[in-house]
Amino acid sequence: MSTGVRKEFDVSAIRAEFPALSRSVYGKPLVYLDNAATSQKPRCVIDAITRYYEEINSNVHRGVHKLSQDATHAYEGARETMQRFINARSPKEVIWVRGTTEAVNLVAQTYGRSHVGAGDAVVITAMEHHSNIVPWQMLCEEKGAELRVAPMNEAGELDLEGYQALLTDEVKIVAAPHVSNALGTVNPVQRMIALAHERGIPVLLDGAQAAPHLEVDVQDLDCDFYTVSGHKMFGPTGIGVLYGKEALLDGMPPWHGGGDMIRSVTFEKTEYNDLPHKFEAGTPNIADAIGLAVAADYMTKLGLDRIAKWEHELLAYGTELLSGLEGLKIIGTAAEKASVISFLIDGIHPHDAGTVLDREGIAIRVGHHCAQPVMDFYGIPATSRASMAFYNTREDLDALAAGIVKVQELFG
Ligand code: ALA
Repeated sequence: MSTGVRKEFDVSAIRAEFPALSRSVYGKPLVYLDNAATSQKPRCVIDAITRYYEEINSNVHRGVHKLSQDATHAYEGARETMQRFINARSPKEVIWVRGTTEAVNLVAQTYGRSHVGAGDAVVITAMEHHSNIVPWQMLCEEKGAELRVAPMNEAGELDLEGYQALLTDEVKIVAAPHVSNALGTVNPVQRMIALAHERGIPVLLDGAQAAPHLEVDVQDLDCDFYTVSGHKMFGPTGIGVLYGKEALLDGMPPWHGGGDMIRSVTFEKTEYNDLPHKFEAGTPNIADAIGLAVAADYMTKLGLDRIAKWEHELLAYGTELLSGLEGLKIIGTAAEKASVISFLIDGIHPHDAGTVLDREGIAIRVGHHCAQPVMDFYGIPATSRASMAFYNTREDLDALAAGIVKVQELFG
């Protein structure tokens, strides 16, 4: 900060900025521990969206009038904010998408379709979310290519040697999660990228669960593509970012066709627009792009280092607390984790646990977490998952532990 003085990380003051956190559920104060599914939004994000619709709602890149110019300025300014947030070299490397799912599909359908052929291979990992499996599976099926899965160990840590062994000449791209949504594992992505780059293989990182918790620096990582979902990082739903190195994006064919992604159109031929607009057909999600940039600025002001430190404390506290409960087993015990505790309670189905906890005002996610192969790996159908954000407290985790004891009493 310019003053050189950093304020305390004051969680109660931060909580007061998130309207949803002060509501009650079934007469109990809300304990929101489902942040990996989606995070709550601070007042400044909600206000920015409202202000956009009340004051400058208009289409971008198209109007000579004041409202359109203001909307374009705010929308492109939001792109620059996201560029700074992930430390991309240029706003041309920041493509607005609906979220990580769309970002991965975009890369699979453009870079993938033009670089992966019959007999080639794509490498993913054993801990993927479905959104980083299915788009590659679709591509491999279409092209007659092989989908290779890098193994992990029982703790949910990537087996780096197993990963390296898969990186043969056939591999045209690696796609891996920065942080696993089901287990919380933080992957050794720098090492993974270096190993792939030694063989000239580009790497896409699914950053959906990393951006809300860790400082993301795409230049330092040297990843080729990076994906962000706005709604998991305190921004609106339906907006996210695909980062790509400019040279790669430049060489990729467009994906969706329509307005704004063109320079000129005749019935014979279309000239495509420059980056980043080449990948942004149609009227974009202007309000939510602006809202996401406000969320990114909010996190930057809180300090990514302080967010990570607080969440690390919460994770350690929650892990110790839950490990001490009889009959509870934590699934995903990697040495490097971020903000997720997945668990099983002996003899109680996660859906039953989640339902009882809900009546206590405690929101967690139960199920396969859109990562069925992870559940198959552990031979289980589902887990209960508590996922934290910087606005959570030790008291939230105490409430969770007390709720679990209640679940056990009820079903025991
Ligand atoms: N991918 C989201 C989750 O992990 C929905 O819950």
